[in-house]
Amino acid sequence: MAGMRMLPEESDISQQQIRAASAVASDLVSDDDRSVAADSWSIKSDYGSTLDDEQRHADATDALCAANFRAASDYSSDKEEPDAEVVTSMLGLQSYWDSAYADELSNFREHGHAGEVWFGGDVMDVVASWTKRLCIDISQGHSTNHVSDNTSSSVEDGDKYFSDWSVLDVGTGNGLLLQELAKQGFSDLTGVDYSEGAIKLAQNLADRDGFSNINFLVDDILETKLERQFRIVIDKGTLDAIGLHPDGPIKRVMYWDSVSKLVAPGGLLVITSCNSTKDELMQEVENFNQRRGEASLEKEQEAATAAATCQFRYVDHVRTYPTFMFGGSVGSRVATVALLRS
Ligand SMILES: C[S@@+](CC[C@H](N)C(=O)[O-])C[C@H]1O[C@@H](n2cnc3c(N)ncnc32)[C@H](O)[C@@H]1O
Repeated sequence: MAGMRMLPEESDISQQQIRAASAVASDLVSDDDRSVAADSWSIKSDYGSTLDDEQRHADATDALCAANFRAASDYSSDKEEPDAEVVTSMLGLQSYWDSAYADELSNFREHGHAGEVWFGGDVMDVVASWTKRLCIDISQGHSTNHVSDNTSSSVEDGDKYFSDWSVLDVGTGNGLLLQELAKQGFSDLTGVDYSEGAIKLAQNLADRDGFSNINFLVDDILETKLERQFRIVIDKGTLDAIGLHPDGPIKRVMYWDSVSKLVAPGGLLVITSCNSTKDELMQEVENFNQRRGEASLEKEQEAATAAATCQFRYVDHVRTYPTFMFGGSVGSRVATVALLRS
C-alpha cells in the first residue's frame, strides 16, 4: 500500500490471501519453487471463475500489496538492521508468474478473459491519460512540476507532439496498459515480460483487440537483451513484484541499474507501485543517483561522464488517487511517480 502501511488486524484481507502472498524466504528457497507457485495460483484460480472480475482484480491487488504487511511488533521496535523488515513472497518468483500466466492463457482460450488488471481499471486509465498529459506538457516546454488535471483542447492538439514517443512497458503482463496508451495516441509501443505465457497472452489480446502493431518480447528486465532506448519506460507493479523476491533488495538495485540504461536521455520513467510510497520511491532514486555519482568518481573520464549524466530527477506524481486517513496519516493505495533522466 502506498502512503501508509496497515497493521494486519486492520485489514479486510483474508488470512488465506495473506498466506498465498507472503512466504518466508527460507521456505521458498528450500521448497520446490514450482509446486509452491502452483499451489498459490490454485488458491487464486479456485475463486477466479466464481467471483466477478472486479472482485478478482481487487483480490489480486490485495495479494500483491499484502506482502507489505509486517508483524505488529515491527511497528514499535527501532530496528537497526533494515533487512530485517524485508518481506518476501512467491510473487517475486518467475515460477509463480509462469504458473499464473499458464492459467490466464487457458482462461483466455476457453472464455476470452483478459486476466488481471493490476490495481484495477481506474488506475490503468489514470496512468495512461496522466502520462499522455505529462508528455504534452514536456513537449510544449511547460513546467513539469505539476501535470494539469484538466483535459483542455490542448490535449488533442498535443497529440502531434508525443504520438511518436517510444514507450517500453517493463513486466507488461497481459499488455493492457499498452493498449490503453495506444488508445491515448501513442504508436511506438513495446512490452516485455520474463514470462513467456504473459507475452503469449499479451500478443493474443492485442491481436484480438486490433492492436497488432504493439511489439511484445520475452525479456528479463534485470538482464535485459534490449539494445534500444525508449523515450518513456513505464512500470506498473513490476518493481513491486521484483522486490518480493528473496533477494529483493539486491534485485531492486539491479532494477535501477538495468532500467536506467533503457531510458533515453531526457526520457521518462513512470513507476506505479502499491508497495512503496512516493517518498520511498524517491529515496530509492536518491540512492541510485548517489551510487552513480560515486561510480563516476572511480571511472575514466568518458565512463565517468556517462555514469554522472544518467541520473533521475522527480517530475511529478499522480495526485488524483483516492486517499484515506489511518493512524493520523493520509495515504493512498497506489503511488505513481514520473522521473526524468538526465
Ligand atoms: C504485478 S504484475 C504487473 C503486470 C502488468 N504490468 C500490469 O500492470 O498488469 C508483475 C509483472 O512483472 C513481471 N516481471 C517480474 N519480474 C520481471 C523481470 N525481472 N523481468 C520481466 N518481467 C518481470 C511478471 O511476470 C508480471 O507480469
